[in-house]
Amino acid sequence: MCGIVGYIGVKPADYIILNALKKLEYRGYDSAGISLLTAQGNIYTEKEKGKIVNLESLIFEKNKKISSYCGIGHTRWATHGEPSMINAHPHTDCAENISVVHNGIIENYTQLKKELIEKGHSFKSETDTEVVPHILEDYLKETDDILEAVNNTIEKLEGAYALAIILSGQEPVIIGVRKGSPLVMGVGDKDYFLASDIPAFLEYTNNVIFLDDNEIVILKKFSYDIYRKNEKITKQINKIKWDAAQAQKSGYKHYMLKEIYEQPEAVKNTILDKVNFTKKEINFENFDESIISLLKECSNITITACGTSWHAGLIGKFLIESLTDVTVEVDYASELRYREKFIKPNSLLIAVSQSGETADTLEVIKKYKKLNAKVLSICNVLGSSIPRESNYTIYTHAGPEISVASTKAFTTQVTVFLLLALYIARKRNSVNNEDFENYIEIMKNLPALLENTINATANMDKIAPELSKYSNYLYLGRGINYPVALEGALKLKEISYIHAEGYPGGEMKHGPLALIDENFPSVILLPKDSLYEKMFGNLNEIKSRRGKVVLFTSDSNIYDNLNDYADYIFKIPDCDKFFQPIVYVIPLQLLSYYIADFKGCDIDQPRNLAKSVTVE
Ligand code: F6R
Repeated sequence: MCGIVGYIGVKPADYIILNALKKLEYRGYDSAGISLLTAQGNIYTEKEKGKIVNLESLIFEKNKKISSYCGIGHTRWATHGEPSMINAHPHTDCAENISVVHNGIIENYTQLKKELIEKGHSFKSETDTEVVPHILEDYLKETDDILEAVNNTIEKLEGAYALAIILSGQEPVIIGVRKGSPLVMGVGDKDYFLASDIPAFLEYTNNVIFLDDNEIVILKKFSYDIYRKNEKITKQINKIKWDAAQAQKSGYKHYMLKEIYEQPEAVKNTILDKVNFTKKEINFENFDESIISLLKECSNITITACGTSWHAGLIGKFLIESLTDVTVEVDYASELRYREKFIKPNSLLIAVSQSGETADTLEVIKKYKKLNAKVLSICNVLGSSIPRESNYTIYTHAGPEISVASTKAFTTQVTVFLLLALYIARKRNSVNNEDFENYIEIMKNLPALLENTINATANMDKIAPELSKYSNYLYLGRGINYPVALEGALKLKEISYIHAEGYPGGEMKHGPLALIDENFPSVILLPKDSLYEKMFGNLNEIKSRRGKVVLFTSDSNIYDNLNDYADYIFKIPDCDKFFQPIVYVIPLQLLSYYIADFKGCDIDQPRNLAKSVTVE
């Protein structure tokens, strides 16, 4: 989704803004642009299709290194109007005295545009955004009070927006406005930043102010003011623990590979503040009596999420239902937000999101809250919209996830679900002491287990050349590992553009078996568990139809003749059933990564995808 950036301070704004835009590249984009306020008080704008390096070289090729200490920038992910230079942001008013970057959608822009054209305004782009500078242009003719003009402007806008605005011909200011789309402010030593996401300015400061809906910030050279309507408000400055190095590639070829390798550490950080290994206890920060009694008494829970987070939710269902007597439903947020559903007063919604900004998930939370349900979110990004809309939040503490394809977010979300399921089981007395303590002990060793798994499967690159030849894949798992098959298939699809489907092994005979021949390989998860023999049956079915098999199976309990059934065999360290998804997903992430890398795909920014889906 679009990313916006603003900078005002004492450093060269072009350099800082381009650098910050590169940090937002992971959100996905098709064009980029920048507006700088020059020393003479004019606005200099440059935009370009494609990558930020194109914009950068355009600025430097034209040798237009501008002396500027105030500006805004944008990465665009087209929603209204094709990806083109004209449609790229920033957008300006008729006189080009106002420059605006926007993330979100102005839903009533058609009507607004019609009215503005009737009044004599002329438009250059097909975007919804361009109405904003034109409306502001009219209001600034009526008043010198910027706050009043901005308040009047946003009163006319329907939809979701985060805006950053600069104005020519006066003391440099950046105006930031937020309603429904993410916008954070960074407070540096002698400068201020605005951005859609923290990594944009993490290199310069980790002091962050989270702006809330309907707030306006006016950044000046050495001061700032935040308003809600006309009322000046004070907001807390939060110190973010992430450091800039976490948001760098650190020698890895891609962020995705780095993030796969970070999983032992990420999971360790997830566990750290939740488990007391000495007392053998699980606790969640900010849980009060109200949520504890809800977890003790509720008879059902709804989990909602999108994409990879939805897969984590499916595993969450399996864990909670296996360890407690609570019934769990899992729904895509994009479906649940539009579905009529009776929500009982004592209901709990668990919303799962890495970014904390996914529009559909956010809408489901709002819907449930209106109906008096309690919302618990599982989230990675501190202070993002989803935790702020939720009654309770469990943070995964996975550190910044930059690659569009989610990896460590998934393993840390599943770790949280396992801890939560054990916590609920403890409160409802549905797990005995011995088992509970045993799980805590396994949890202690989980980071080491993940390290061993990475080591055992890191040679996956060797098979990538052969496996990248196929156009279709089937991923099979059963029970708790069925969602892992779905997740493995999603990873392959999104980064290598190879079609893949995940299925529960037991469904093979009901259709998918028809697809199998020597050109349709299967990836099979065969851990040592109660369904081992059943999954082995699938292996048989596939091999007797000459299908190629990539097999992930337990270190022990291996039949001697597995080589007769599988073309490639990877042995995964043995582990308890409940921990298997966290372990088994890692080789599937690596498999997709190496196939995509062999094919030369743009792994960290797959085509058509955005990291944070902040619009429908
Ligand atoms: C896939 C992927 C997406 C996200 C989905 C939800 O690798 O990253 O499917 O999982 O867009 O995003 P969050 O978790 O940020 O709500």
